[in-house]
Amino acid sequence: LLFDLTLVAAAYLLGSISSAIIVCRLMRLPDPRTQGSGNPGATNVLRIGGPKARKAAAITLFGDSLKGFLPMFAAHLLGATGIVDASAWLLAGVGLAAFLGHLYPVFFGFKGGKGVATALGVQFGLLLPLGAAVAAIWLFVAKVLKVSSASALISMALAPLLVWLLWPLHAEQGTAVLVGMQTLMTLILFWRHRSNIRNLLAGTEGRIGDDRGPDE
Ligand code: G3P
Repeated sequence: LLFDLTLVAAAYLLGSISSAIIVCRLMRLPDPRTQGSGNPGATNVLRIGGPKARKAAAITLFGDSLKGFLPMFAAHLLGATGIVDASAWLLAGVGLAAFLGHLYPVFFGFKGGKGVATALGVQFGLLLPLGAAVAAIWLFVAKVLKVSSASALISMALAPLLVWLLWPLHAEQGTAVLVGMQTLMTLILFWRHRSNIRNLLAGTEGRIGDDRGPDE
C-alpha cells in the first residue's frame, strides 16, 4: 500500500508541472495565463500566434499528455514486476491524481488547466486502443468543427462508453471502477469547460486558427 500511495502522490506531483507555463517561459513567449482565455493549455498557447507559438503548443500538448501517460505506464510496469498490485483501483487512483495535478497544480497556486491533454495521456496509458479511439474522435471533430473545446467535450463525453467497450479486452475485472473513473474525469472536465460551454451555446466560441499572431 505504501508503494501504491507513493505512486498516486508522484502522479499528482507530475501532473502539477504545467507544460504550457514552463514551455512558454523557456521559449520566451508570453505567459499563457495572461493571454486569450487565460488557460495554461496547448489551445491557448497556440492562440498566442505565430510559428514559435505553434511549436510551443505542440510541445505543451505532448508534455501534458506525458504527465498522464507516464504514471499509468509506471503502474502497469510495477504491477508486472509485482512491486504493486496494478488493480483497476490503483490505475484509477493514479490516473485521477495526474489529471487533478494538472487542474489543481501544487506548484502554480492550484490554478491549472482544463485537463484534455492529460486525460488523453491517462487514456493512452490505461489502454492504447482507448487513447487511440479518443484521439481519433478528438482529431476528427476538430477537423470538422475547428473548435478545440467542442472536440474535447465530444470525445471526452464518449470516453466512458469507450472504456466500457475496450477495457474487457484487457482484463476480466475492474471495468466498473475504470468506467467510474472516466465518468468522474469527464464530469470534472465539463465543469472546467463551463465558460467554453457557455460560449458554444452563445455561438461565440473561437475557432482554431482564428487568432493570428504579430509575426504571421
Ligand atoms: O479543450 C480545449 C480547451 O482546453 C480549451 O481551452 O483556451 O479555448 O479555453 P481554451
